[in-house]
Formats: sequence, structure tokens, C-alpha cells
Amino acid sequence: MQRTLLITGGAGFIGSHVVRLFVNKYPDYRIVNLDALTYAGNLENLADVKDKPNYTFEKGDITDEAFVDQLFTSYQFDGVIHLAAESHVDRSIMDPLAFIRTNVLGTAVLLNACRKYWQDSMEGKLFYHVSTDEVYGTLGAEGFFTEETPYDPRSPYSASKASSDHLVMAYHHTYHLPVIISNCSNNYGSHHFPEKLIPLAIRNIRQNKPVPVYGKGENVRDWLWVEDHARAIDTIFHKGRTGETYNIGGFNEWKNIDLINLLCMIMDKKLGRAPGTSAQLITFVKDRAGHDLRYAIDATKLNKELGWQPSLQFEEGLEKTVDWYLANEEWLQHVTSGAYQQYYEEQYQKR
Ligand code: NAD
Ligand code: TYD
Repeated sequence: MQRTLLITGGAGFIGSHVVRLFVNKYPDYRIVNLDALTYAGNLENLADVKDKPNYTFEKGDITDEAFVDQLFTSYQFDGVIHLAAESHVDRSIMDPLAFIRTNVLGTAVLLNACRKYWQDSMEGKLFYHVSTDEVYGTLGAEGFFTEETPYDPRSPYSASKASSDHLVMAYHHTYHLPVIISNCSNNYGSHHFPEKLIPLAIRNIRQNKPVPVYGKGENVRDWLWVEDHARAIDTIFHKGRTGETYNIGGFNEWKNIDLINLLCMIMDKKLGRAPGTSAQLITFVKDRAGHDLRYAIDATKLNKELGWQPSLQFEEGLEKTVDWYLANEEWLQHVTSGAYQQYYEEQYQKR
């Protein structure tokens, strides 16, 4: 094997797309997927690569220092792509400490392991940290987040991701650890856990349940096809400059209510419902605390320096996403059994 890479959080939404891309594209890399399999991690996401000779799964927690040390000793990693995280803003409002533990402490444990195991030679090594545009805070009606935008996180989730980004850069400056960070906008696509807006709405529309829209639905997000994010990570991992940050975005801003209306139209068509049927399910509910108004990424640096650009128009990507969910009801049933029900009731009953 030419290189041994650790991918953390590979059983989650974005991680599973990254693992799939790397396992298939680089048969001479050994890919080790470390995942704790929390409610958000599901090995069914990787059923198509699980038997590939260059793929290994390790169940474990990134906050477990002894376990992470032992993994570094066994595999002698050349690189890390770090995606494992608690990722949902609403859950961070319910239970901030879980986010501090995994996102801050977990990242520090991984950085420490890299520092220890790579101290003799940093040559050819890389710690690639996958982060979010939410570290920049919120925008008004105008402007974009660039790599120079000052950090201003406003939710426990974004604050924990911002802290982890700062730790990554601190290890770069203090210990010369080769690092790269990318900050990406909202992703959508297959295998997305149905606590997030798009898969939750698809599920509820399918089941004729109310589709909860926070506040007046005026908040704006910049949506990117998850496979385009995985491609960007591949490009940056192989061609990016160490010590740098790259913003990744879809150049694709949508107000939540406009997005949900578009989704309702697509669902009407796919389910053979009369136009306007699904939109009747839209229900405005109590707003999220501290709800960031608008995110929009300026991904010019990534485009100019490394030639990356999104491949799909949103309408096409959304239709493909709906098709995937309608064809994979069993997956949806598996991930929403058990603990999901309790979360759903706690989150939406009071709204
Ligand atoms: P996800 O919640 O779908 O998956 C997270 C994965 O991490 C799960 O498989 C889970 O089991 C694993 N995990 C959680 N805690 C762990 C721990 N302590 N030890 C080991 N594994 C653990 O998240 P996602 O949406 O795929 O996001 C992946 C990364 O990308 C995160 O770092 C997130 O901050 C970042 N990101 C996400 C988005 C988005 O739109 N979803 C956008 C930009 C950046
Ligand atoms: P989400 O998918 O949770 O991503 P993030 O908060 O990280 O951007 O939410 C996307 C947008 O949709 C956000 O403005 C909150 C809103 N939203 C709803 O209106 N209703 C919902 O049930 C959820 C989960 C989100």
C-alpha cells in the first residue's frame, strides 16, 4: 500500500461519501475508517465498499486517547481526514457538552496523536480537518464568507467547531504539524440523517406529516451536493497548501421556505400527487434559538487555486436526492427506529 489514511466519522453522512470516493479511486491507499457509530453513524452507508481489500473499519471513540494511540501504533498513518463530530445545531442547543467533548476534545486527541507519531518526520504527512462555514457566524442580506472573515460562532455547535479549527492551527504554528482546514456550506444528498432540514422534510412529506419550518422560513443557506464536497476534499487533500484554509460552497443560496416549496413540487411529481398537495403540509413552528440568518460562501480561492467547482444544479441534485430516499425506505426505517423517535418528540412537540 502506498499510503495509509485514517478517516474519522466515515460512517456518517459526508464521511461515507469521502470513504467511498477514496476507497474506489485509490486502490493502493489503505483506508481505515474510525467511527464510534453514534446515532448518526451507520455502517449500511458503506455496504458497497465494506469488502474492498483496501478498506478497514475500526469502531472507537476519538476522545479515547489510549485507543487512538493504539490505532496509530498499529497502522502508522500517513494522513488523517477528520470528519467525526457531533453535527446538528438543534442537538447542540439541547446538549452542548456532548459537542465540546467530541468536537473539541476529540480533535485535540487526534492532533496529539499526530504530533507524537509524526515527530521524527512530518514529510508527506497531513492532518486534514473538515469544518463548517458556521464558524464565521451569520451574514446580513449582503456579502459572503471568505477565508479572511473573522470567526464569530453563535451556536454551541459552531463554537465547538471553531474551537477545533483554532486547535488545528495552533498545532500547525506551535509544533509545525502539516494541516489543512476546509470550511464548507450546507451539504445535501443521499445518506443524510433525517434530523437535518432536507431529509426530514422528504420523510415527513412522504408520510403526510407536518413539515416544520422554523420562524418565517426566511433564513438562507448555501447548499452543496455532498459528492461535490467529497471531490473538493480529495482535491484539497492532494493539492492544497499546508497551513491554509479553503472555503467550499455551492454558489447556491436558498431561503428555507423557497427550498421547501421546491421540494414539495418535486415530491408531488414523484408521488403522483396533485400539484400543491405536499405544500399544504408546511407548518411554521417556533424559531431556533440564536438562529443564524444567512450563510453564503465565497469559494473563489478553491476555484482559482485548485480548479474545483460544483458539478450539479440544485434542482437536479434535489431530484436525485428525493429519488434516493424514495428508493431506500428501508435505510430510513433503520436509522429512525429507536432513539430517533425520542429526539423527534423532544425537538418538535414543544414547538
Ligand atoms: P454526521 O453527524 O452525519 O456524522 C458524524 C459521524 O461521526 C457519525 O458517523 C458518528 O458516528 C461519528 N462520531 C460522532 N462522534 C464520534 C466520536 N466521539 N468518535 C468517533 N466517531 C464519532 O455528520 P456530517 O454531516 O457527515 O458531518 C461530517 C463533518 O463535516 C463534521 O465535522 C461537520 O462539522 C462537517 N460539516 C458538515 C456539514 C453538513 O452540511 N452536514 C457542512 C460542513 C461541514
Ligand atoms: P439544518 O439542516 O439543521 O442545518 P444548519 O442549521 O446547520 O444550517 O437546517 C437548515 C435550515 O433549516 C436552518 O435555517 C434551520 C432550518 N430548519 C427548519 O426550518 N426546520 C427544521 O425542522 C430543521 C431541522 C431546520
